[in-house]
Amino acid sequence: MPVGIDKINFFTPNMYISMNDLALARHEDPNKYLIGIGQKEQSVIPVTQDAVTMAANAAYPIALDDKDNIDLIIFGTESGVDNSKSAAIYLQNLLKLNSNARAFEIKQACYGATAGIQMAREYVTLHPDKKALVVGSDVARYGLNTPGEVTQGGGAVAMIISSHPKLLAFEGDSSFHSEDIMDFWRPLNKTEALVDGHYSNNIYVDFFQKTWQNYKLNNNATISDFKAFVFHLPYVKMGIKGLRSILQEADDKLQTNLKSEFDFSKIYNEQVGNLYTGSLYLSLLSLLNNSKKLNSGDRIGLFSYGSGAQGEFFAMTLQPNFSKYNNSDLLNSMLKNRKQISISQYEGIFNSWTNSINDNVQFDVSSDHARFVLSEIKNNQRIYLERG
Ligand code: COA
Repeated sequence: MPVGIDKINFFTPNMYISMNDLALARHEDPNKYLIGIGQKEQSVIPVTQDAVTMAANAAYPIALDDKDNIDLIIFGTESGVDNSKSAAIYLQNLLKLNSNARAFEIKQACYGATAGIQMAREYVTLHPDKKALVVGSDVARYGLNTPGEVTQGGGAVAMIISSHPKLLAFEGDSSFHSEDIMDFWRPLNKTEALVDGHYSNNIYVDFFQKTWQNYKLNNNATISDFKAFVFHLPYVKMGIKGLRSILQEADDKLQTNLKSEFDFSKIYNEQVGNLYTGSLYLSLLSLLNNSKKLNSGDRIGLFSYGSGAQGEFFAMTLQPNFSKYNNSDLLNSMLKNRKQISISQYEGIFNSWTNSINDNVQFDVSSDHARFVLSEIKNNQRIYLERG
């Protein structure tokens, strides 16, 4: 029985900066950001959005019809809003989901959503009449004037995992690798991540190599079994480095095809930036919505990486009629309708994003048109609003 991704959706807030503007403001050659890093734009997260609201905005359209069947809600995040209460409980309440459910949060840097969908896979395999909602939602913050600033961003990807999925089914066994690595971390007293970026790049490729080699051995596979590879994309160039590390295994024709599919898988990410645990799934959605060459039965390889560090490689197969569920018009219009802001406006918003450390504060939600917003923090409790 196939189990996999039945529906997938994405949300990012309605403001962005251009990487050209950021490079000029930071006295860098724009080509460093546009080509060297591979990013064009970066979503800016207002104080009225957080991991919970972005997840609710992404999940709302796909969870509506499945409310009664979802009894597992898994929230992957590394920018959660509470050190104790899980963001999944807020999400369950905002979406008015079934309360006879398991709802909890998972953290392992950018790997959380992958842990979530793999757990959901096992649950649905045992209970084929049930569905799981899995989200990856994050605000990627490194700090103004830091090397990581060009790799910020934010947003959420939501997925329904079911039996007989419309889009993609898991295939074969995953391979995974974990090790204590100090490449990226965020101490409890900080809203910005600390990162040893060049070290992290090397570990990423090393973990990809380890999990890919093990995957091939365990599943008796070769690179020619794959139509495309999608990667966790903290920034687009990172995925290019991953892909390059295996390309020599393919013949010339396959190399050209894999590079061209990769180009489709980066279209959304280069406009949004990093969304940590959702980034791999945004790239998958970008491939599904933009590639013209995918066919049902094609196998896609997915590499998930969470600093600290955990890597996993797994495969999914495109299901019959998957192309009928293409939601590119909706996503393109969400991205197109975002407002470009100046670097000084972005800096003001960045510095005011202290909502995780305020006890009492009211936010002006008038310029945020999303369905779900954070309106207030009162007595250390977060007050969310739904607008119809
Ligand atoms: N034109 C084109 N390319 C240029 C350029 C120019 N004018 N100037 C520099 N570049 C290239 C560099 O050659 C380099 O390419 P390479 O990686 O293929 O060698 C790339 O741009 C980046 O330059 P670099 O000097 O390495 O940038 P940096 O020291 O400022 O740091 C990161 C870049 C990615 C390490 C940094 O942004 C970072 O740490 N980001 C966070 C990453 C992260 O979150 N990792 C953990 C999760 S996976």
